[in-house]
Amino acid sequence: MPGRFAGKVAIVTGAGRNIGRAQTLLLAREGARVVVNDLGGGPNGDEVADGGIAQQVVDEIVAAGGEAVAEGAIVASIDGGAAIVARAMDQWGRIDILINNAGIFRAGRIDELTEQDWDLVVNVSLKGSFATIRAAAPVFIAQRSGVIVNTGSTSGYGHYGMANYSAAKEGIAGLTRTVARDLGEFGVRCNMIRPISAQTTTRTEGVMRTIQRSRELGQTYNWNRRLALRRMMPMPDSVAALAVWLCSDAAAHVSGRDFFVQGDEIGVFPERELHRAIFAAEGFTLDALDAPGSGEYLVGDIVNRFLPRGTMAH
Ligand SMILES: NC(=O)c1ccc[n+]([C@@H]2O[C@H](COP(=O)([O-])OP(=O)(O)OC[C@H]3O[C@@H](n4cnc5c(N)ncnc54)[C@H](O)[C@@H]3O)[C@@H](O)[C@H]2O)c1
Repeated sequence: MPGRFAGKVAIVTGAGRNIGRAQTLLLAREGARVVVNDLGGGPNGDEVADGGIAQQVVDEIVAAGGEAVAEGAIVASIDGGAAIVARAMDQWGRIDILINNAGIFRAGRIDELTEQDWDLVVNVSLKGSFATIRAAAPVFIAQRSGVIVNTGSTSGYGHYGMANYSAAKEGIAGLTRTVARDLGEFGVRCNMIRPISAQTTTRTEGVMRTIQRSRELGQTYNWNRRLALRRMMPMPDSVAALAVWLCSDAAAHVSGRDFFVQGDEIGVFPERELHRAIFAAEGFTLDALDAPGSGEYLVGDIVNRFLPRGTMAH
């Protein structure tokens, strides 16, 4: 298969369904050989729903004349990440592209979340991304090349009932920025995407309940509102296009950056900057913060949007 990624080897985690599957098929169409990782889990991450889904994607690729192998290791541990990377090395002796896509949801208000809810979600998304990167990094360093795309979420900016998921996804933002710096000198790039796709197994009853509650509480001013205003039900194709394009030479100068994609819209977030700053030559004290033009100036226009509707916000 000729194409943009002819001769390259890619790994996609959570590649059996939806976004990961779309990314995998696009990479294969463009000539990459792909390790298709998926344990065939359910959306809550504590049961196996369909262990054969990675192989189905492989069969589809092979039927179209491409090359792929299935790997069912669980992305949530150092061993899992190592097994996936070893599969690529054993099969093809190199890795060019790593897309960390696997992720699960376990929703609930912070006082309802259990240790298992926390561990499963954080381990799949955040520790799993560390695990595959940790295993691939020596290969990338030796090759003096490699591209990583991690998968965050706009829920990382805060989303009712998703503390574990938000924390894991925003952890991925920090991981991405730092890996870009750690591996930059070796010509290795690392970026993240915050995707939206209507094709997903993650709209579970628990998730829908928290989304509904966030609407009832009027927490719809931010990304939720933006999403609700969009016209189309976004399919995973645009997500796949962006993730795979970031792996191509067209994005050879892009690393440590943070992208948004849903259906008909793609954007890039700015690097973190202070919105406003105050200074005190001797350092700050409570009195210094109380002084005119100090703390009040810093937070004066901030409104607490999380109080019940109709309550004074300041
Ligand atoms: N769909 C959206 O709107 C949306 C929004 C924001 C972020 N995301 C993120 O995008 C990614 C893909 O989302 P999706 O909607 O396609 O999810 P999905 O649940 O439809 O598919 C995820 C796949 O990952 C696999 N998986 C889960 N845990 C795994 C593990 N430990 N090891 C290996 N495979 C595992 C599952 O079996 C599943 O096939 C996730 O990281 C998700 O958090 C999705």
